[in-house]
Amino acid sequence: MYKHLENRARETPPVTLTTLQKMKVEREPISCITAYDASFAALVDNAGVDVVLVGDSLGMVIQGHSTTVPVTMDDIVYHSRAVARGLYRPFLITDMPFMSYATRDQALSNAARLMQEGGAKMVKLEGGVNQLNVVRALASNDIPICAHIGLTPQSVHKIGGFRVQGRDSNAANSMIEEARALEDAGADIVLLECIPTELGRQITEAVEVPVIGIGAGPSTDGQILVLYDILDITLGRTPRFVQNYMEGAANCAEAVNRYVAAVKDRSYPAPEHCFE
Ligand code: KIV
Repeated sequence: MYKHLENRARETPPVTLTTLQKMKVEREPISCITAYDASFAALVDNAGVDVVLVGDSLGMVIQGHSTTVPVTMDDIVYHSRAVARGLYRPFLITDMPFMSYATRDQALSNAARLMQEGGAKMVKLEGGVNQLNVVRALASNDIPICAHIGLTPQSVHKIGGFRVQGRDSNAANSMIEEARALEDAGADIVLLECIPTELGRQITEAVEVPVIGIGAGPSTDGQILVLYDILDITLGRTPRFVQNYMEGAANCAEAVNRYVAAVKDRSYPAPEHCFE
């Protein structure tokens, strides 16, 4: 057992979906970050992060692939289980990998694996109106769902690259409708990736569930970044929305503390991290 787990004070109870909904209503920014192992999970927990995502970004930052497409269920279960062992307070979301929710039955059995074997409290899947039946099936089995729309990296080969989405008014209006439809189908959180700031604001106001953004502007209810990006250890070019919090920090813990503080005081994201 990790030492930090024994030392928890009773006044910091674990974050639940109810906590996150309350934070939306009270306009307290939700800080989220990815993690892939128990040691970093403990470190981000100690920094006061509210939500941890075991993202399929592990395909890129851990496994060295150029996309998230090769990540398998076994890969993500392994990492989710490790992260769950290192966490006490943050709410744990785990990604459903590419093609692990192509049918309703597949989605149900794979989501059950993520919760039972991986320790996830919520599963995340990519896609909008095409996923409504899967979202309904998961929701009717009390599986909490985060619906990821905007730039959906699992579709990179279909959409032709990692590009900002929702820039024209038709695409923007469809995305607002998509978010509403996902909420109606049972999604508990909406995650927006790489969209214009104004659209991020409109979607956040259009739904009652918490909205987490990555490159979606400052108006979303929370912010998420890939841990290795803020620690400046991701190879190659990083997206515009990334901020290197290692600059000026003495160690990784201080960098994550600075990220959490910046989300909480809304100094992150700044205009240079956002899209028009
Ligand atoms: O896989 C991941 O890390 C993600 C975040 C970028 C939101 O989906």
